[in-house]
Amino acid sequence: MVCRTLAAAIGVASIAAAVVASAEPPAGAAACSGCHPASTRVTSPVPRLAGLDRAAIVRAMEDFRSGTRASTVMDRIAKGFTEAEVQAIAAWYATQR
Ligand code: HEC
Repeated sequence: MVCRTLAAAIGVASIAAAVVASAEPPAGAAACSGCHPASTRVTSPVPRLAGLDRAAIVRAMEDFRSGTRASTVMDRIAKGFTEAEVQAIAAWYATQR
């Protein structure tokens, strides 16, 4: 019982930490906005990342890195980021609108 309460408390604390952390862009996220527009008013052939599903961003980065998904530049960019960095960037973009 004590254990379960403690586990729940830790769970809530880590969710809170994740929400606080998502306010500031994680390392590397600024590199994406040079090509992926932050604003909806910008017309660009490169899709916006803001609001995309977290898992979809992670999956796309993995596929670009492995070459499973064809790309012009994203293969090279994806290789420049670690798994943890991609996870953090994807989680952050998923919270943006
Ligand atoms: C030099 C320009 C450039 C930069 C910088 C860049 N991208 Fe891209 N991105 C593209 C282009 C162009 C595409 C379309 C695929 C291709 O041709 O490589 C793309 C496609 C994607 C897609 C697929 C989107 C979809 O809906 O199909 C994701 C996800 C993505 N980029 C994530 C990122 C992330 C995360 C970063 C930062 C770490 C980043 N990109 C930085 C140019 C860029």
